Amino acid sequence: MTVLEVLQSTTVYFQKRNVDSPRLNAEHLLAHVLRRKRIDLYLEFERTLPESELAPLRELVRRRGSGEPLQHLLGTVEFCGRTFRCDKRALVPRPETEQLVELLISHFKSEIACSRMVDVGTGSGVIALTLAAEFPNAEVVGTDISEDALMLASENAEQLGLADRVRFLRSNLLEAVQPGLDVIVANLPYVSTEDRQTLAREVLHDPEVALFAGPRGDELVQKLIENGPSRLRAGGILALEIGIGQSESLLAALGEKNYRDIWTEKDYSGVIRFLFARYG
Ligand SMILES: C[S@@+](CC[C@H](N)C(=O)[O-])C[C@H]1O[C@@H](n2cnc3c(N)ncnc32)[C@H](O)[C@@H]1O
Repeated sequence: MTVLEVLQSTTVYFQKRNVDSPRLNAEHLLAHVLRRKRIDLYLEFERTLPESELAPLRELVRRRGSGEPLQHLLGTVEFCGRTFRCDKRALVPRPETEQLVELLISHFKSEIACSRMVDVGTGSGVIALTLAAEFPNAEVVGTDISEDALMLASENAEQLGLADRVRFLRSNLLEAVQPGLDVIVANLPYVSTEDRQTLAREVLHDPEVALFAGPRGDELVQKLIENGPSRLRAGGILALEIGIGQSESLLAALGEKNYRDIWTEKDYSGVIRFLFARYG
């Protein structure tokens, strides 16, 4: 089979298995097996693939067709222009979270350049490491309750040459974090346990601890809002990613806890997905 024929037949297979963006997935997997850039496949459509290249592809295609996330099969994910290791130890980073980081940077660039920041629930470390890379003079800490996630985050720090810039810390929310923070940023679990049945099969490959917060979904974010004042300096910034329909109760919680300059932002699908506030 040629490169083009493989792409076409894989696309049809993925369509039948209800894989989103079937052609794109086929291209990513084939490029991965051939160790090429995806765009370079277009230069060799007519090349016939030997069995030695087809066999590993077949296995990846089978796994993708049965719902394994593309990023787990590739072993990497792109986040804000950098490549991070990605596997089942932590949540697959989502495009919404890139938007959280972009919004934080665009609104507070000069203010956070030399700040003390903590990324609570750091997972693979994408938020903490992106901020450390963008702000060489900032002090960045990433916390997580999961040892597995912290290990992956540390590997990502090594790989990006940021190991001496970010400290990863095992902590239940802010418990192990020192006060005096300028910024708390968090994409904590915000899925309700009641919504488990509605999740895409790919999502169920993420660790449970990265998805579910409790029967309502906003329990951990509520707790972080409650505990934020014990760690933020006066005027410090809180930046949060939240779930669909959670903004009203969380905005009320921010108001009750003496936060000010509170505002929301929508994600690219028009859902209120981000909360920003200052404390005190
Ligand atoms: C939705 S994932 C986000 C991971 C990463 N920040 C990202 O955006 O890709 C939430 C993370 O919070 C961590 N987590 C869950 N409960 C926690 C807690 N009580 N304290 C700290 N981290 C927690 C999970 O282990 C997981 O890595």
